[in-house]
Amino acid sequence: MRTPFIAGNWKMNKTLDTAKEFMQEVAGQLPDPTEVETAIAAPYLFIESMMEVQTDKTLKIGAENCYFEDSGAYTGEISPLMLADMGVHYTIIGHSERRKYFNETDDIINKKILAVYRNHMVPILCCNETMGRRESGEKIHWVVSQVAAALKGVSEEDAKSVVIAYEPSWAIGTGDSATADQAEEGCYLIRQTIADLYSDELADGIRVLYGGSVTPKNVVGLMAKQNIDGILAGGSSLKSESFIQLANYQ
Ligand code: G3P
Repeated sequence: MRTPFIAGNWKMNKTLDTAKEFMQEVAGQLPDPTEVETAIAAPYLFIESMMEVQTDKTLKIGAENCYFEDSGAYTGEISPLMLADMGVHYTIIGHSERRKYFNETDDIINKKILAVYRNHMVPILCCNETMGRRESGEKIHWVVSQVAAALKGVSEEDAKSVVIAYEPSWAIGTGDSATADQAEEGCYLIRQTIADLYSDELADGIRVLYGGSVTPKNVVGLMAKQNIDGILAGGSSLKSESFIQLANYQ
C-alpha cells in the first residue's frame, strides 16, 4: 500500500515572514502522515526558520534543488550535506525549470540524485514532457530516457524510496492541468520504466506524483487514478488554505 503524498514546491516565492506564517496557519490542519504524507519544498533561506517555528511536525520541509558535491569551491551553490545537516528529508531534483533555465542535463541530474542518496535524503525526481513530445508520440521514449538516466548507479535499496513526479511542461503554471487520464498515462509509464529498470515489486512500492496546475478542484479526480500516488503543486501550495484543501482531499 503506497501512502498518498501531497507536496508543494514554492519555487522562488514568499518571504521569511510569510513562510513562517504559513507554518503557523497549517499547524494542526494537515492529515496524519501515516494516512497522507505532506511536504513543502521551500527556498533554502527559509528552511531552518520554518523548522524552528514548526509546532506540528506533520509537514516535512524539503529543498527544491542542491548541488552534487558535498563541499568545495562552488560559489553560490548549496550542498546536499548542508541540507541533510539541517534535517531536510526530501529534495526536488531535475525540475523542468532547472532543466530549462539552468541547463541541467540528465548527467547533472543523475549526479545530484546520487548526492542526495549519499547524504541519506530522498529525491523527488521530476520528469517533464514538452507538448512537442506529446504530440509527436515521443512520450514513451522521454520517460524511459529521463528516468533511466537520472537513476543510473542508484542501488535497488535506495531506489525503493525514490519519489518521481510526472510534470508535463505544458501544464506547469498554465492553469491547464493534464486530464486525470493523461496524468495517469504519464505516471503509469514512469512506473513501468521503474519495473523494467529494477523489478515489478519495487515499481509497485514507489510513489509517483503528478504536477502541473493541480488545484483543490482537480485533485480528487487525479488522486482517484491507480498510478497517481500524490501531487506536486506549485501555485496551489503557496497559500495555506489551498494547501490544506489539497492535503485533505480524501
Ligand atoms: O513542481 C510543481 C510545479 O512545477 C507545478 O506548478 O503552479 O503548475 O502547480 P503549478
